[in-house]
Amino acid sequence: MEIKVIVGDIAQIEADAIVVNLFEGVEQPGGATAAVDKALDGAISSLISRGEIKGKFGEVNIVHTFGKLPAGIVAIAGLGKRQDFSVDKIRGVAGEFCRALRKLNCHKIATIVHGAGIGGIELEASAEAIAEGALLGLYSFTKYKKPEYEDIEEMRIVVREKEKVPILELAIGKGKLVASATNAARDMINEPANYMTPSQMAEAAKEIASKYNLEFKVFDREDMEAMGMEALLGVAKGSNQPPKLITLSYKGDERSEKALGFLGKGITFDSGGISIKASEGMGAMKDDMAGAAAVMTALGAIAQLKPKINVTAIIPATENLPSGTALKPGDVLKAINGKTIEVISTDAEGRLILADALSYAQKLGLSPIIDLATLTGACRVALGTLYSGVFGNDQDLIDKILKAAEKTGERMWQMPMPEEYKEQNKSEIADVKNTGNRYGGAITAALFLAEFVANTPWVHIDIAGTASSTKESGYIIKGATGIGVRTLIELALSEAKNQEAI
Ligand code: BES
Ligand code: MN
Ligand code: ZN
Repeated sequence: MEIKVIVGDIAQIEADAIVVNLFEGVEQPGGATAAVDKALDGAISSLISRGEIKGKFGEVNIVHTFGKLPAGIVAIAGLGKRQDFSVDKIRGVAGEFCRALRKLNCHKIATIVHGAGIGGIELEASAEAIAEGALLGLYSFTKYKKPEYEDIEEMRIVVREKEKVPILELAIGKGKLVASATNAARDMINEPANYMTPSQMAEAAKEIASKYNLEFKVFDREDMEAMGMEALLGVAKGSNQPPKLITLSYKGDERSEKALGFLGKGITFDSGGISIKASEGMGAMKDDMAGAAAVMTALGAIAQLKPKINVTAIIPATENLPSGTALKPGDVLKAINGKTIEVISTDAEGRLILADALSYAQKLGLSPIIDLATLTGACRVALGTLYSGVFGNDQDLIDKILKAAEKTGERMWQMPMPEEYKEQNKSEIADVKNTGNRYGGAITAALFLAEFVANTPWVHIDIAGTASSTKESGYIIKGATGIGVRTLIELALSEAKNQEAI
């Protein structure tokens, strides 16, 4: 879909549909909605008084114009309660009205800038959110099945302020870029595991690298053996697919040796291994590389936005399968930082591959380190499917991430890391074991990871609950959400700004 800004009067636009809006509880529409209402001889206000149009968040009401306006359809997008309004609500509204109009076979649509007037949100922030929300909300994974609806070809964002056009175009450009990176991650995650193997992940990373001029490296089994990555290799033992350790580096600040580290869990399929999972719903475990996909496509976006900062992504990628050569409960592995790990469950494989990846990140001198992982079902139990769990050893860094997340609408919640629970990861025969007891599983997993980060500022984001959705709502669609991409991009941008200020 092409998105552009034009100067004009929404009521006069020729299109298949024009979009205006309404806050919940407003009886008499104002602004552009009032102008369109007038042209329709009060149709909108009479539907409001009949209680048919309520302005509830996410609702899209359709009014046909029958020649009263150049556009065939007027869509009234519900903005919800004014006191709850936010930039993220605009993303959601854009996703909703775009999907509604696509269903109605609209190819050319035009919208006002929602919330910019009475909503009190800056024009450019709203335009960016409309572009981002529209592209995210219209996403579908169409590689193996024809899409249900035809695409909307063009969305015009209509403003009155001529002088604002250049800045709005910039804002829309950013929204588009960030949404494309998120959709690229969704594509990778939605790919079935028979296609998205570790080797294919490495191919995808290579493509991103050559497209956006990033440094790309891939380490094979032999390289990992030479580096002593027993934990990662241990998980890979059960599979015939060769494991890959992939790195992508963006250099935006030539004068600095420092670099941020983004790590992503890249289990392309998690059967549980010998500690095999129940078969029901096991297919969803193709999503277990959602963290890996997110850090990769975030790096692609960062390379286009060019912040003055260096970022390196590390992706440990392997399948977790049972076989005659598979890792077994009771086995002991040594990570590259020298710590030994007793494997209690082969299904707690994420923390094993991350143990080596985290140690490797420190070897490279990356700081701070942020890892993104579909790590524990326990995190989904604790926080549900809307909030990712945030853990870390540095409150400053945690606060920065929560702030970046807040800005992007990716909901995150800090979780505690009490010393006392460390007890649960103690092993009789090794330095640590890879599972705790029944309770607080997301926390004991984070405490396990902490064993492999020493003093480097580090944050772990558990996205097991948020990486995919079974519901369509706002700019979230069914399947992979691409969670984390937007927060990581935002963090890189804000860190670059911070460093400039110092
Ligand atoms: N990939 C799973 C976690 C997961 C669960 C992600 C549900 C998305 C949805 C992870 O590797 C896993 O199997 N974790 C175990 C840990 C347990 C064995 C300590 C879990 O959560 O059950
Ligand atoms: Mn597992
Ligand atoms: Zn897993």
